[in-house]
Amino acid sequence: MLDKLKEIEKAASLEINDANSMPELEAIRVKFLGKKGHLTSILRGLGSLTAEERPIAGAAANETRQKTENLIEIKSKQLWETLLNVKLKTEKLDITLPGIHKEIGHLHPLRSAENKMVEIFVRMGFDVVEGPEVESTHNNFDALNSPADHPSRDMTDTFYISEGVVLRTQTSPVQIRAMQKRKPPIRIISPGRVYRCDAPDGTHSPVFHQLEGLVIDRHITLGDLKGTLDLFAQSMFGEGTKTRLRPHNFPFTEPSVEVDFSCFACGGKGCRLCKSEGWIEMLGAGMVHPNVLAGCGIDPDIYSGFAFGMGIDRVAMLKYNIRDLRLIFENDVRLIGQF
Ligand code: PHE
Repeated sequence: MLDKLKEIEKAASLEINDANSMPELEAIRVKFLGKKGHLTSILRGLGSLTAEERPIAGAAANETRQKTENLIEIKSKQLWETLLNVKLKTEKLDITLPGIHKEIGHLHPLRSAENKMVEIFVRMGFDVVEGPEVESTHNNFDALNSPADHPSRDMTDTFYISEGVVLRTQTSPVQIRAMQKRKPPIRIISPGRVYRCDAPDGTHSPVFHQLEGLVIDRHITLGDLKGTLDLFAQSMFGEGTKTRLRPHNFPFTEPSVEVDFSCFACGGKGCRLCKSEGWIEMLGAGMVHPNVLAGCGIDPDIYSGFAFGMGIDRVAMLKYNIRDLRLIFENDVRLIGQF
């Protein structure tokens, strides 16, 4: 039996020495020391020995186990070290390399402009209300005092969904909805998308954005409109910005005006942005027509009000110096990333 133990010891030591990987080493351990391994089967034979032989053989078997376990332990450490060295060599980290840049999302310039506009009016006490983009011709035209033969009603100007239903061409129908629902005093703004049959170019788009404003109360005058727009102009484009009203015509306001802002690029001296005018056309406005008030159940003898509508895209283009309206809708990240 002692000879057999020596043999096992020798064979194990040779195999351990030759092992090249951890799984291989584990297989050797099982082969020699496992439950069905060589050493165990020899230990089973202890029973057939005499009482004097048994402790000697037992001690020798334990020694063989001990020695083999030690060899496995040493080999295991060697294998780990080799593995670690390979890893250290091949998986070298260069901590001086620049990190992976994570692009953080941010607001589209159009949305930034809208948020700023809304914030300015909200600070003045306006409520924000929204209306549907699919609107009745009644709200989009009739209730706004637009004559039945007004050219803006043409299929060439307006997108019709069906008879009597259009994609709204302006945010002004929200005025109608607000006046039908609320009692004066009314002070609302309504930002949103509007649609017109326009071929896209640098200043036109079949879809664009307007911000409508409406104030109805007793004794509201054109002076209130001017004061409101002055404050807006200064808050949006800088302290020195002035406003100028020019007579105009809208069916739903009387009198109607177009409003220019003094050029915030040159301060009114004349430059490329204002095409040497010193002024930039910004919006349409006026005193709400008595027909419109009456049609919504508001007595024009008691109440008066002003309304205005301005292009959000236009404000964004001026504010952020975007030269072409199409850039706002194309969503090229090279443009959007600049803001
Ligand atoms: N709805 C008008 C337009 O789209 C703008 C406007 C709004 C004019 C309110 C006067 C009052 O051109």
